[in-house]
Formats: sequence, structure tokens, C-alpha cells
Amino acid sequence: MSAAFSLEGKSVLVTGGTRGIGRAVSLVFARAGATVLANYVRGQAAAEALLAQAQKENLRITVFRADLTAARGLDELEAAVARAGDLHGLVHCAATGIHKPFDELTLRHYDWTFALNVRAFFDLVKRLLPRFAARAAIVAVSSQGALRAVPAYSVVGASKGALEAFARHLAVELAPRGIRVNILAPGAVATEAWNAMPEAGHRLADLARRTPLGRLVTPEEVAQAAQFLCSDAARAVVGQTLVVDGGAGIPV
Ligand SMILES: NC(=O)c1ccc[n+]([C@@H]2O[C@H](COP(=O)([O-])OP(=O)(O)OC[C@H]3O[C@@H](n4cnc5c(N)ncnc54)[C@H](OP(=O)(O)O)[C@@H]3O)[C@@H](O)[C@H]2O)c1
Repeated sequence: MSAAFSLEGKSVLVTGGTRGIGRAVSLVFARAGATVLANYVRGQAAAEALLAQAQKENLRITVFRADLTAARGLDELEAAVARAGDLHGLVHCAATGIHKPFDELTLRHYDWTFALNVRAFFDLVKRLLPRFAARAAIVAVSSQGALRAVPAYSVVGASKGALEAFARHLAVELAPRGIRVNILAPGAVATEAWNAMPEAGHRLADLARRTPLGRLVTPEEVAQAAQFLCSDAARAVVGQTLVVDGGAGIPV
């Protein structure tokens, strides 16, 4: 691997880091030399499976359970990061959402979704700011729903739009302090998140068929793009949205 893409010596927090795309980010980053703190909240089995994989490959990954929508969870995670020393990267993969048409959505659904997807990111960055080392990188994981209408996705899409706008403002404010902020927007990736989507099987097959690449992108491919954004190879990339969707978003 070219040294510019290496994450050797870097310490990175990955929220939602034990499952789906976040799990791939944790593994890809650790294989590139990073020390990874992978946050999760409910999926104990997934956290243990990641630890077992890390042990097998001799990777520096630890897992940390904390609910990012609760002040206590954020306090505990902040303390865990502080114990680990300087932080060189944050990848905010954790997300949630209620997948229903607008008529069926309530303010509770709205608050639940925004609490993790946007508010937790705001609070985390604020809390971790003093911990970031020089040349640190933050990646906010968004989705195509930030820009385009997706069935039963309005509240999640709106939260991702807010996340992206917030990340761009942060990019401008934090770049002079040596912290780069970027956005990573995957296309559809077949993870457990799709279990909550209406007609998931049919929609994934249709998306794969309509993707110029001829298939869906994988968690590893998204994770490698995150690696680029957190590496020195991306040292001049600030406030951008990197789309990893196999060309699915190109209007034809
Ligand atoms: N899959 C796709 O097609 C797709 C497409 C575009 C963008 N994305 C984005 O990519 C990211 C990862 O997606 P995914 O499909 O891998 O999701 P996923 O498998 O559903 O994983 C979601 C993660 O968020 C964590 N989480 C949920 N609530 C939390 C809370 N209150 N505090 C802390 N962590 C919490 C979960 O932890 P537990 O494991 O403990 O429950 C889990 O690790 C998300 O931001 C998603 O919006 C996904």
C-alpha cells in the first residue's frame, strides 16, 4: 500500500462500527494500520464477532457500548476516547430511522431519527474537538436520500440532508484548525438495515439491475473510500461528498 493511504499510527472512532458498513470500516481501517474504537449499542453478538475477527487477524480493534442518543452514553464514549489518547479520525456510521410514508410518521419518529443521525454527530464533534490531533479527519456517512426522494425514506433522507449541510459548514470552520470534514454517500448496500425497508428484496434487485456497475456496492468498497478520506492521500479534500454507488445516481 502507498504510504499516503496508510492509517498507521492513527487512532479512529467508528460509530456503528460493529455492524454493516461500519464493521467494514473498522476492519479496513485496522488492516491499514489504525487503532480502532468501534462503538455500538445493542448488537452484542456483532460486537463479539468483530472482536473475534480482530483477534484472528491480530488487528487493533476495541469495541465500546454506548447509546449516542443519551447524555450518559456520550459521556462514557467521550471518556473512552480520552483514555485512548489523541484522536485522528471519526467516522459517523451509526444511523437509524423509521421507514414509513409521511402520513404515518409522527414527531416521535422524527426526533428518534434526528437524535442519532444529526444531533449525536453534533454533540460528538463538539465533545471530541479538544481530542483531535493535527491532520485529523471526520467522515459523516450520508446517503442518496439526502438529495433524492426514496420511498418511505423522507425523515431519514431529511436527517441525512441536515447531516451533509452541517458537515460542510464544519469543514469550513475546522479546516484552519487542521481537521478535515468530508461526507461519504454510499449507494444501496445489502446490510441488515434493509430488513426494515418495505419490499427490500425486490428494491435491492432492481437497484442492482439499474446500477451501471451491474451490481450493488459492497461494505468493503465503501470502507475503502472512507479510508481514502481519512488518509493523507486526501489531505487537500475538504467539505466534499464522495459518492460510492457504482454509478447508480447518474441521470440517464
Ligand atoms: N445500507 C445501505 O444501503 C446504506 C446506503 C447509504 C447509506 N447508508 C448509511 O451507512 C451507514 C451504515 O449503514 P448500515 O446499513 O451498515 O447500517 P446498520 O447495519 O443498520 O447499522 C447501524 C449501526 O448504527 C448503530 N446504532 C443504532 N442506534 C444507535 C445508538 N442509539 N447509539 C449508537 N449506535 C447506534 C447500530 O448499533 P448496534 O449494532 O449495536 O445496533 C449499528 O451498528 C448509515 O449511516 C446509513 O445511513 C447505508
